[in-house]
Amino acid sequence: MSTTAPAIPATGFDAERTRADFPILTEALPSGQRLVYLDNAATTQKPNSVIEASDAYYRHANANVHRAIHTLAQRATQQYEGARDKMAAFINASSRDEIVYTRGTTDGINLVAQCFVRPNLRAGDEILVTELEHHSNIVPWQMIAEATGAQIVVVPIGDDGSVRIDDFVSRLSERTVIASFAHISNALGTVLPIADMIAAAHAKNVPVLIDGAQAIAHCQVDVQALDVDFYCMSSHKLFGPTGFGVLYGKREHLEAMPPYQGGGDMIDTVSFAGTTYNDIPYKFEAGTPNIAGAAAFGAAIDYAEHLDLNAVFEHEHALVMTATEAMQAIDGLRIIGTAPGKAGIISFVMDGIHAHDIGTLLDESGIAIRTGHHCAMPVMERFQVPATARASFAAYNTQADVDALIAGLQSVQRIFGKAPSLPA
Ligand code: ALA
Repeated sequence: MSTTAPAIPATGFDAERTRADFPILTEALPSGQRLVYLDNAATTQKPNSVIEASDAYYRHANANVHRAIHTLAQRATQQYEGARDKMAAFINASSRDEIVYTRGTTDGINLVAQCFVRPNLRAGDEILVTELEHHSNIVPWQMIAEATGAQIVVVPIGDDGSVRIDDFVSRLSERTVIASFAHISNALGTVLPIADMIAAAHAKNVPVLIDGAQAIAHCQVDVQALDVDFYCMSSHKLFGPTGFGVLYGKREHLEAMPPYQGGGDMIDTVSFAGTTYNDIPYKFEAGTPNIAGAAAFGAAIDYAEHLDLNAVFEHEHALVMTATEAMQAIDGLRIIGTAPGKAGIISFVMDGIHAHDIGTLLDESGIAIRTGHHCAMPVMERFQVPATARASFAAYNTQADVDALIAGLQSVQRIFGKAPSLPA
């Protein structure tokens, strides 16, 4: 028999009010269904304030930055640099100079791989990652390891998708040059014990990079309290525009690193006798940047600040717990990733039903999830599944979204003949 999910516990967070800020959530679907957006790990939707900031930038401030003194150039530069100040405050960086603009998390990890690690990398050196990493936190390291003879060392994950601190510590060695791991797994929802992992790495003088793509909109990040060396994030997963992000790096590391790309704005002086470079962070920001992206990103940070991300984490955790309980009652459904205290991501498989079929059928009911390997093929290999279906939550998801997901999954099961038929 069809049942709805249990009621989510009250956390005091007003998701309905949050939902009203996101115009796309009232989008009329071709099917006439209400949109149930549960693909937030892939990208978050954008509130009115972010959409309006992008629009206002092009209407009232469009110019290049750092290059002219006219009014529009001043407005553009103010918006571009204002977002840097907001981001420094948002993650409690000790200085705005430690905020490097990038194209996103992937770009930030590649920057650190190429400019911080690769220049000193030797054959036999070790780069430590975990088994649950996104491809963007594997492939950049493989590229520099292949070029130098360095090794990738992998911390295994447990059957519930958790990373044990002992397994991490035992793989730190005299040859480890960097440890790089996710704050929250995009494929499993595991929240890694990053504070303990950073402390353990530092005890062996190993610097740490955190892939914060899945955490930045879902919990409060304090880079000074964490004492992390590098923290990468993507704007589009924090209610902001695509193609924009931030690499936080400790000042001493950024100052010691060579530039990433050459071009305008990253230089101090240029002559054919030689070039000197700009100060951080501009040394890493060659060419005309994504100025409109920064302007809208500033609005996204303002939006996230007003939400209270600690309350958001509690709200999303409540949604996940409620959805998990109801999903576990569906015959043949298995959740992949059950680590305690997990974030708002549920990966699952259903006996005899391909993940893509689950996604297609849910879409017919207006429910957007992601299916596939989630750019984490080693995770699929670990759990011996070709793909999973994944529902991922954000601050604007509600009990109604969970109920729709559960009803949709029950319908999938009925269509594939796995459930007892409903009374007529
Ligand atoms: N990394 C994003 C995801 O997990 C795209 O869906």
